[in-house]
Amino acid sequence: MALDLFKEKGVPLDRQVFTWKDMVQRPYSKLDDDAFTRVRVILMNGIESDALRFKHIVARFNRQLREPLALIRRVEQHQQTLVNWLNPADQSPVETTLGFEQVAIEVTASVALKEPDPYLAQAYRFGMLEDFDHLYRYSALYDRIEGKDPNYLIQSYSDIRPGRPTAVEHRHPLDDLRRPYDMRTAHPLTKIHALLITAAEFQTHDFYMTIGPMFADPVARQLYAEIASIEEQHVTQYGSLIDPDQSVLEQWLMHEAMELYCYYSCLQYEGNARIKGIWQRMVDYELGHLHYVMELFQRLGGRDPAEVLPATLPDLIDFKSHREFVRRTLAQEVDLRANGTEFVDKAEIPPGHRSILYRDQLNSEGSPTETVAAGYQWTPGTELNARVQRVGVGPEGRLQ
Ligand SMILES: [Fe+2]
Ligand SMILES: [Fe+2]
Ligand SMILES: [Fe+2]
Repeated sequence: MALDLFKEKGVPLDRQVFTWKDMVQRPYSKLDDDAFTRVRVILMNGIESDALRFKHIVARFNRQLREPLALIRRVEQHQQTLVNWLNPADQSPVETTLGFEQVAIEVTASVALKEPDPYLAQAYRFGMLEDFDHLYRYSALYDRIEGKDPNYLIQSYSDIRPGRPTAVEHRHPLDDLRRPYDMRTAHPLTKIHALLITAAEFQTHDFYMTIGPMFADPVARQLYAEIASIEEQHVTQYGSLIDPDQSVLEQWLMHEAMELYCYYSCLQYEGNARIKGIWQRMVDYELGHLHYVMELFQRLGGRDPAEVLPATLPDLIDFKSHREFVRRTLAQEVDLRANGTEFVDKAEIPPGHRSILYRDQLNSEGSPTETVAAGYQWTPGTELNARVQRVGVGPEGRLQ
């Protein structure tokens, strides 16, 4: 289903209006909807939040674009509200956290598999194994503070087991920078991927920074602090894949194309008819943004948008389980480390390397991700269920 980016104009900007009532719609169901509906809602909230972030930062540096940025930014705000308010109130912060890590695993896996540039694909696999470990650590926290099985939410799409241990993910800042793609030769999908994963990781970082201090449990407080630091590393890594030589207008154009690409991917997979209608509406709005910026690109930038935009949207995100791919990557690449912009085996990192010194100092009083998972092994239905199976249930329905 190819969407012609130049022919389809979507909804014009002045008709992209909301009321409080249609901005705040009925949420999805935490347990009854497919886990990938939660994944899509969380992802798209991150994408919209980055649309705002990007447009604010550009406005600080650019007088000429302030008005068009303000106009589209207000729509992004209301889009984000509509999407984010689809999260249900009975989903606790730790449960939402599990959803965030499922996004980081499954969406990054899809991106890694489709990425045409082998170096960027490697960067995505590298980060994916780290977020995979976060899901396991947060599952241990969920068991600790709510005593529940994380698989209620994950719905067997993703494995719950250690990845590259978070305690060794801490790196010196200079080992988190990557080589950017080359804007002149990179495939449009490469540009879209880098923007979308950076956006997703940014909101993960911001979410952990917001909710971390709201926990009373001291291990939870430390755990969010430790993993938020890795998310900052991930934003550094993915953000540095973006070619900084692209003009502001070109980056803006690609950001709108990326938003459209993500919503259009959501639309292909959504099983909840009501939410599918929301994705369709957002596709039409983003087409409107894209055409608005195409006009600016032409008029102010003096360039033809066809120089940078593909005629149709490239291969879409696969919202499905990537269990085998993740397992294979884990088996082959768990021992990779970063040395500057390059990925090397841990045996090639010399003793006294800046990242080892950095990590040893940070972990010198213990690592919360190790503490939380000490003795934790995911068991379907929690360890109570394992005990029922082992010893059986007595006449009054009590464990024997
Ligand atoms: Fe948007
Ligand atoms: Fe991450
Ligand atoms: Fe947009």
